[in-house]
Amino acid sequence: MTVDVLLGLQWGDEGKGKVVDYLAPRYDIIARFQGGPNAGHTLVFEGKKHVLHTVPSGIFREAQVNLIGNGVVIDPITLERELDELDAAEVDYIDRLFVARKAHLILPTHRYLDKASETAKGKSKIGSTLKGIGPTYMDKTGRNGLRVGDIEAADFMDRYNALKAKHQELLKIYPDVEFDLAGEEAKWMASIERLRQLKLVDGEYFVNSSLNSGKRILAEGAQGSMLDIDYGTYPFVTSSNTITAGVCTGLGVSPQKIGEVIGITKAYCTRVGSGPFPTELFDEMGEFLRKEGAEFGATTGRPRRCGWIDLPQLRYTIMLNGVTQLVVTKIDVLNKLEAIEMATAYESNGEQTDQLPYDLCDDTCKPVYESFPGWGSDLERAATYGMLPEAAQKYVEELEARLQVPVAMVSTGPGRRQLLEKIQA
Ligand code: GDP
Ligand code: IMO
Ligand code: MG
Repeated sequence: MTVDVLLGLQWGDEGKGKVVDYLAPRYDIIARFQGGPNAGHTLVFEGKKHVLHTVPSGIFREAQVNLIGNGVVIDPITLERELDELDAAEVDYIDRLFVARKAHLILPTHRYLDKASETAKGKSKIGSTLKGIGPTYMDKTGRNGLRVGDIEAADFMDRYNALKAKHQELLKIYPDVEFDLAGEEAKWMASIERLRQLKLVDGEYFVNSSLNSGKRILAEGAQGSMLDIDYGTYPFVTSSNTITAGVCTGLGVSPQKIGEVIGITKAYCTRVGSGPFPTELFDEMGEFLRKEGAEFGATTGRPRRCGWIDLPQLRYTIMLNGVTQLVVTKIDVLNKLEAIEMATAYESNGEQTDQLPYDLCDDTCKPVYESFPGWGSDLERAATYGMLPEAAQKYVEELEARLQVPVAMVSTGPGRRQLLEKIQA
């Protein structure tokens, strides 16, 4: 069997959680492969909203196993909070949630360092979620990190104290910031006990033996491809490989094992935090999209920056990921518009190009727009793709033709059922 991948093609928040929850019954295992509690994946069903940060979005489907893979960084405090919420929702996860031993742990001092480092950056700050992501991946690549498997070691506390001491030295180079280290440390130690109760596995063997025994796996991306550490809008990125390549390192599977790659894009575009965003709208249209799309971060509550869909940007991330199917979400947010803009190329020094510049901050590069008619009606009654207004279908098919990838599904609202399959599975 192969691992199918589902990931975001923009700057995150494309609706990955909702689509994973929908697709989960077609798989045996749902696995997160990178990122950490900087992610906020929203699921809406039976009139309730659930936001997941570390736990994969297949957890609400009773027959599915969920794996927090090697490439993920875990804050046990956030994980414990998520488990409490699952308990409150009466979700029985104890035999269905597995954690890879090689996943790295986010310590309270990682969050402390994240805050201190962002404060020191002043105006050039990344706009990090301050969940400790950057410092934890730095310790991973710097070969200093603490991993989930270390909690089983007799000298775990010594290892913890050694890393904390290093962090305290490092904190001296930064300006003072407020952080209740004693309080956070007490919470962290208590949450480690909760982590011990979960099923810890050697993720790479777990995944490969599952594949060999015929199990179907869906890898759930976090963040978006434009936030990839290598190919995103560096330095305004996250600290992991968010693209398909990250599935191989993050789960321990070989490239030959990758099957379908499902890329998700909103019908427009958003970004939260700092960094370039060529099609960003600063006018009332941007405000309209934020309001209609309820564009406020699921992790931090920050307002998201909004703009038009950007085809050169999408062609770039489709190329990087090897996308075989597209899912277009939040098309309903455009319902009231008379005209919808699409950036179809960039113009640089009087010439049109399809290629993203080395530095997207380069303001000599401007998007070129084409306009498409809106449909001016809601989509409530569209029970199938064919029932969508003609202009909405035309918009989707225009995307498909220009991106040269088939659209498998269109999402028309936050609810579990508001997903129309264009290609029947
Ligand atoms: P993720 O990080 O990619 O999982 O996305 P988020 O959960 O951060 O953000 C997506 C937001 O849009 C959530 O509030 C979803 O409930 C909501 N959403 C998802 N799909 C749709 C859709 O088709 N229409 C509308 N209006 N909202 C949607
Ligand atoms: P999901 O999985 C949107 C952004 C932050 C910041 C940058 C670096 O919900 O799509 P970090 O905390 O990683 O140091 O922040 O990346 N960012 C996200 N933006 N969705 C996310 O996740 C994000 N995770 C991180 O806003 O600009
Ligand atoms: Mg999100």
